[in-house]
Amino acid sequence: MALTRSVFRDESFLFPEYLPHQIPHRDAQLRALELYFQSVVQNASKASQNVMLCGAVGTGKTMMAKKLGESLQKKAALYGNLVRMLHVNCRIDRSLQSVMVRALGTLGQNYPSRGYSFDELLTVLVAELKSSHMHLVIAFDEVDSLIISDPSALYTITRLRETAQGSQVFSSLLISKTLDYMKAVDLSTLSSVQWNQVSLEPYSAGQLLDIIASRGEAFSDGALDEGSMQLAADIASLYGDARYALDLVYRAGKLADMAESPRILPEHIRSAKASLPPGFSKEELSYLSRHQRLLLMAISTLLRKGDSTYVTIGEVEKSYGALCEGIGTSANHHTQVWNDVNELSRKGVIETKLSGKGVRGRTTMIGLSLVSAKELIGELEKGMVADVRS
Ligand SMILES: Nc1ncnc2c1ncn2[C@@H]1O[C@H](COP(=O)(O)OP(=O)(O)OP(=O)(O)O)[C@@H](O)[C@H]1O
Ligand SMILES: [Mg+2]
Repeated sequence: MALTRSVFRDESFLFPEYLPHQIPHRDAQLRALELYFQSVVQNASKASQNVMLCGAVGTGKTMMAKKLGESLQKKAALYGNLVRMLHVNCRIDRSLQSVMVRALGTLGQNYPSRGYSFDELLTVLVAELKSSHMHLVIAFDEVDSLIISDPSALYTITRLRETAQGSQVFSSLLISKTLDYMKAVDLSTLSSVQWNQVSLEPYSAGQLLDIIASRGEAFSDGALDEGSMQLAADIASLYGDARYALDLVYRAGKLADMAESPRILPEHIRSAKASLPPGFSKEELSYLSRHQRLLLMAISTLLRKGDSTYVTIGEVEKSYGALCEGIGTSANHHTQVWNDVNELSRKGVIETKLSGKGVRGRTTMIGLSLVSAKELIGELEKGMVADVRS
């Protein structure tokens, strides 16, 4: 019996964690980053660099950081130097202390996530780096999460280079969508150090077409036709978002397989568009705390049941309480619930607005801006199963 045919030859080329060999329309920006770190590569124990990398969703920031890490390591080796990049996502590692724990972990030094102060960990890390003659470039991805929860972190990062007296062991790359987080920071922090900056512009339709085409290995011969690629690129160009463009063709491929179509047709792209809201990444959900996910579950369930656009925060709190009870967890108090709602809103997962008069005074109304409640419930349930198992 013949194996089931698929439009994919190897779909892993489309997975978010895949680091592409070709990066169309980003060579110049990668070169700019490399140049900033050239002195570090050549003179790892004497030079140190701080660079900011900014760009909207899906413009390739995380990918560029990882490419840069590979390239710096290789180039440094040519000069007999040891340069490594540590990429941390500050939504997961939300304090400098946990960044230090992670850095030590990659050097084989396992420290518990609590119990040691930042200074203690830093001292050990510096000693460790010095003794192994290693220069560590820390890429603080989604750095705004770190700075917002601890505005002095930026100051500390800029001062890292002064901690290893006599030799340099640190550089940093600060990655964010915008520079808004800088507003939270004392200006003297900024003026004391020269920050170099590389900006990534949203991709145009033509650029997105090249990016999709550069993942051709993912598809069986002739499975992705020109018109479908063009349509995906056109749709995603509204946002300039390469992740969305790649997700669209991936989902369209899945739909084509389901329909047993040997080719991904424009209609599959259109259907994929209908099922995939831009800007919403499932990754996002994994960064939420357990109670934030429970709240989100309560919100989506209410919205789905009532078929309405908004629900009041009071209703949400009640339903969240019931959910917690159902799984034997004690619910958070009102203030914490309020904080979590604000955070979900800041992250763009939910939308909040004040009700007009009538709903007994003014109350906060909560809606879902990007995702369908049904889809969200599906994703959250998957996460919760994992939660319960762990
Ligand atoms: N120029 C490019 N060539 C090939 N693939 C690209 C390019 N730019 C981005 N991608 C791919 O698009 C996806 C999104 O890129 P990435 O995760 O780096 O975006 P980001 O800017 O970090 O987005 P976010 O702000 O959401 O974190 C990844 O799969 C990445 O490999
Ligand atoms: Mg990213």
